Amino acid sequence: MAKYYVTTPIYYPNDVPHIGHAYTTIAADVLNRWNKLQGKETFFLTGTDEHGKKIAEAAEKSKLTPKEFADKLIPEFKKAWQLLNIDYDRFIRTTDKDHEKIVQEILQRVHDKGDIYKGEYEGLYCTACEAYYTEKDSIDNCCPIHKRPLEKLKEESYFFRLSKYQPFLLDLYRNNPQFISPDKRRKEIINRVKEGLHDLSISRTSFNWGIPLPFDKKHFSYVWFDALLNYYSATKEKGREKFWPADIHLVGKDILWFHAVYWPAILKSAGIKMPKKIFAHGWWTVNGEKMSKTAGNAIKIKELADIAGTDSARYFLLRETSFGDDGDFSKEMLIERHNNELANKLGNLVSRVSALAEKYGLEKAKAIDSKKVIKKTKDYIEDLKFDRAIYEIFAFIDKTNEFIQKEKPWETHDSKVIYQASNAIKDSAILLYPFIPETSEKIAGIFNFKISLDSLNKPLKTTKIKKAPILFEKIK
Ligand code: MSP
Repeated sequence: MAKYYVTTPIYYPNDVPHIGHAYTTIAADVLNRWNKLQGKETFFLTGTDEHGKKIAEAAEKSKLTPKEFADKLIPEFKKAWQLLNIDYDRFIRTTDKDHEKIVQEILQRVHDKGDIYKGEYEGLYCTACEAYYTEKDSIDNCCPIHKRPLEKLKEESYFFRLSKYQPFLLDLYRNNPQFISPDKRRKEIINRVKEGLHDLSISRTSFNWGIPLPFDKKHFSYVWFDALLNYYSATKEKGREKFWPADIHLVGKDILWFHAVYWPAILKSAGIKMPKKIFAHGWWTVNGEKMSKTAGNAIKIKELADIAGTDSARYFLLRETSFGDDGDFSKEMLIERHNNELANKLGNLVSRVSALAEKYGLEKAKAIDSKKVIKKTKDYIEDLKFDRAIYEIFAFIDKTNEFIQKEKPWETHDSKVIYQASNAIKDSAILLYPFIPETSEKIAGIFNFKISLDSLNKPLKTTKIKKAPILFEKIK
């Protein structure tokens, strides 16, 4: 059986999740559902990144141990994913025992290979990023992302010989143009790697909230080594070995460097196969402004789902901008798409056609041809062009609306025309399933078909149909 393995970044549980986290997670859910629909055996991994200074500091403020602090936030993440109808297979925590064991094994293996050595680290550190910056990358001694002053830190540290892997990485990118996506980001990474790589500091003695290095217990693994390995350690669980290498790691553009440079180098050193693809998506602003804790403008998941429901939220985030680009979130735009596209186009079609079907029944007839939209949807989703896929499906829905407008089955009572429209609704609902699963399931219930590849390729069966309840209430 064909396999598919998709991951999200593991999120820092220092606060409840917001639309930034939702974005990657929904996209991963779409890919997972799509591939499942294609008949593949899938594995969808998400989770939390719990070690390191960031969580330790947040915990201290709350007068909790880091583990207690994380334990309190994990249910918030799980609740959020449930609210957004995220069908993940495992929620990994970097504090999970099986993960910690694998991290130690890999650290030992890389050490034995001679790729880890002891040195001293001095640098400008950003706690929010959990990363050091060079003077060149910092702006007035501040973190280029968080704009907060960087801390000067100096300590004994173990280093991973990242610099040694420069030629390997450049070969990898050259021989696998698909490895980093979108293209513009790949070029950025290649240019930076060409400038040369510093060895990577991978341990700290200044805190103990982390995984101890197996060859020097005074040292604790620095977060990225530990965090990145989650993707691999999750496949060491019984029955899951077959999923490595991952088909795709979805990440935000801010953490692409760690995934496109550190991660393959670590894997190469450990003698593990490379993942097939790393895709970096853009960032959301809210009403034109950067989301931040201080601005207090981060849209929480509950708030997002409450605007127009779960499916409309999922739909909006993937329809509004192309996946690799930045986007701007506004409640008004979400409501506009909910009203104009989901309610007016899809909702109305379903309600009209189901009402006619209840009255006049269905009679088999030649289907409205959906081969093109099926092919395009498949190509676009697999190419991570979610907005294009949705656009094509809605063009097909428009065509179906025009068709009944022209045929006027409410005047002719032609059950063949009603059948043709019902069949087109079936095809649209199955194609939309990864994006709006709850609605698609409802439509399937109304027209009596299953969400499956088989149903997509076969004409709708003629059954007794009842008028559908309203799928999307319009919002003022
Ligand atoms: N823990 C690391 C990832 C380790 S993966 C081995 C981390 N966590 S995070 O919680 O800070 O962020 C996770 C993801 O959320 C990143 O992919 C980031 O791009 C994404 N987003 C955070 N804010 C965002 C927006 N405003 N818009 C879109 N995505 C954003 O980094």
